[in-house]
Amino acid sequence: MSEQPPAHIARLIPRLELTGTERILELGAAPGVAVAEIGPILSGDGHVTALDRSAVGARRIRERNQALVDAGRVSVVEQDLTTLAPEPPSRFDLIFASNVNVFWTHPRKANVDALAALLAPGGRLRLFYGYGPGDGAGSGRDTGSLVAATLRAAAGLADVTIDGAGPTLQVSARKRD
Ligand SMILES: C[S@@+](CC[C@H](N)C(=O)[O-])C[C@H]1O[C@@H](n2cnc3c(N)ncnc32)[C@H](O)[C@@H]1O
Repeated sequence: MSEQPPAHIARLIPRLELTGTERILELGAAPGVAVAEIGPILSGDGHVTALDRSAVGARRIRERNQALVDAGRVSVVEQDLTTLAPEPPSRFDLIFASNVNVFWTHPRKANVDALAALLAPGGRLRLFYGYGPGDGAGSGRDTGSLVAATLRAAAGLADVTIDGAGPTLQVSARKRD
């Protein structure tokens, strides 16, 4: 971690409520800034899989986090989340994304059933939107309600909540036990 993260990333890190031992999947993780913030916290089995569909994005994640990749704490995957397969084992304690719009723009493509299948029982899904005050997020649309409806349509998820207070919108769900 050699530079200050953008404010929207700095805001979401505490909202992940990490102990450091979680197995984490970040969707749309380029350029790897959140990964760089989480990396030093990791201990025990703690690991981040950083996924992005952009080849340039995946390269930037890797370059920014090379030491964590070399240490086996971070894996970088170049893939579109809409093509993720719901393959066992259900290994992630936390799946999160910041400003990945497919969950409200194309709910049926968002592949939430597969994401739920990849979560361990009781695992958490957290989706964040917005860059800060005045970024226009939410103007003319209710992003939180749209994202929540996408998550509620997934059989494997429960306890869908929307936290729209403050500059970052957070939509959360939990994998059914
Ligand atoms: C707007 S940027 C946000 C980047 C970062 N998460 C943040 O909040 O600053 C969206 C990122 O998600 C990636 N992305 C968008 N849709 C995706 C998808 N369907 N599968 C994987 N990555 C996706 C893009 O390539 C891009 O890197």
